[in-house]
Amino acid sequence: MGDLLTREQSDASVAQFQAEFDQRGYGWWAVEVRATGGFIGFAGLDQVDDDMPFTGVEIGWRLARSAWGQGYATEAALTVLAYGFDTLELSEILAVTTATNSRSQAVMRRIGMTRDPADDFDDPTVPEGPLRPNVLYRIARGAGSRRDRREP
Ligand SMILES: CC(C)(COP(=O)(O)OP(=O)(O)OC[C@H]1O[C@@H](n2cnc3c(N)ncnc32)[C@H](O)[C@@H]1OP(=O)(O)O)[C@@H](O)C(=O)NCCC(=O)NCCS
Repeated sequence: MGDLLTREQSDASVAQFQAEFDQRGYGWWAVEVRATGGFIGFAGLDQVDDDMPFTGVEIGWRLARSAWGQGYATEAALTVLAYGFDTLELSEILAVTTATNSRSQAVMRRIGMTRDPADDFDDPTVPEGPLRPNVLYRIARGAGSRRDRREP
C-alpha cells in the first residue's frame, strides 16, 4: 500500500479527501469503533483512476492491522454501499484489488459483490510482478447486498 506517510503527507491526504467530499459528495470516510470512538482506518468511494481499463465508482477500505478479523471492514463497506446506492443513486459500484489480496476479496464477497474472471486485468501503473495482476468485482444497484437480505 505504499510507504508510511509523514504527518504532512497524511494531513494533505485528509485535506484532499475533504475537498473531494465538497466537490462531488463522496470520498473516504474515517472508520471508528462505535464503542470507543477509536480511529481504525478508512472506507469509502472513489472515481476509478483514468489509467484503468474501465470507468466507474469504486468502493475501498484500509484498516490498521490491529483492527482486522472483527468484521469492521464489512460493516463499514455495507454502510458505504448503501450510501452509494440510496443517496448517490449509483447504478453500479466496482471494487479492485490485486489477485493476491484474499482478505480484500473476502470483504467484496461478504458484501454481495461478484467477480467475472473475464474482467481480470493487469494494472498498467504497476511494474511486472505479484502486484500487477488485478481482479474486478461488481455489484449493481438492486442486486441485494447482504444488508438488504438481512432480517429486519
Ligand atoms: C482488506 C481489509 C480491510 C480486510 O479486513 P478484515 O478484518 O479481514 O475484514 P472484515 O472486517 O470483513 O473482517 C472479516 C473477519 O472478521 C471476522 N468477523 C468477526 N465478526 C464479524 C462480523 N460481524 N461480520 C463479518 N466478519 C466478522 C470474520 O470471520 C473474518 O475473520 P477471518 O479474518 O478470520 O476470516 C484489511 O485486510 C486491510 O486493511 N488490508 C490492508 C489494506 C488493503 O489491502 N485494502 C484493500 C486494498 S484494495
